[in-house]
Amino acid sequence: MLPPSSIQATPPAEPPAPSTGATHTHDDIEQVLISEEQLAERVRQLAAELRPLYAGSDLILVGVLKGAIMFMTDLARELRLPLEMDFMAVSSYGNAAQSSGVVRINKDLDTNIEGRNVLLVEDIVDSGHTLRYLLENLNNRNPASLRVCALLDKQAPRKADVPVEHVGFSIPNQFVVGYGLDYAEHYRNLPYIGVLKPAAYS
Ligand code: IMP
Ligand code: MG
Repeated sequence: MLPPSSIQATPPAEPPAPSTGATHTHDDIEQVLISEEQLAERVRQLAAELRPLYAGSDLILVGVLKGAIMFMTDLARELRLPLEMDFMAVSSYGNAAQSSGVVRINKDLDTNIEGRNVLLVEDIVDSGHTLRYLLENLNNRNPASLRVCALLDKQAPRKADVPVEHVGFSIPNQFVVGYGLDYAEHYRNLPYIGVLKPAAYS
């Protein structure tokens, strides 16, 4: 292995141009709802809100795949606390268009969370069915504490009454993509949250 002092980034042939901060919107996006800059600022604020709650405690972030990945990795960096990260993958059982409220675990945690402080990190709360299932499931494992941090809270008729202690943004009842959220597995890597053009659905 090379000593750390010898590790250097390979210099580019041409120095990179300074970033202009311009947002190049994907052709399928009708409207940018939350910009990259707004996301970064709100994540910093959420981290500041959470930091005193978890300073000096045994914290484990539990991210819900795949939608929460961008939010979770940014939040984890901004928290500047010792923490662990684990993930669960879930899907709604049966017909996706008619959410039955029955959720199936596709990937479970690797970690035993008993007696630990768990922060569940979600991309978006819509009907609340997914979150209600996850909270009940995680609570049964007897964590020391369990709170929820969701990037987006959709102003939809909530079917399941679930507590969401920390919310990034309240958004109208529209289908959004980007910053982890997908439509048919696309658009997750857009750096902003946007609304799709109707043509993109067909
Ligand atoms: P709920 O169980 O109805 O609250 O649904 C939550 C899940 O549905 C989220 O974790 C997302 O994966 C997905 N979802 C809900 N609304 C949207 C959206 O507007 N865009 C992308 N995914 C969404
Ligand atoms: Mg999700």
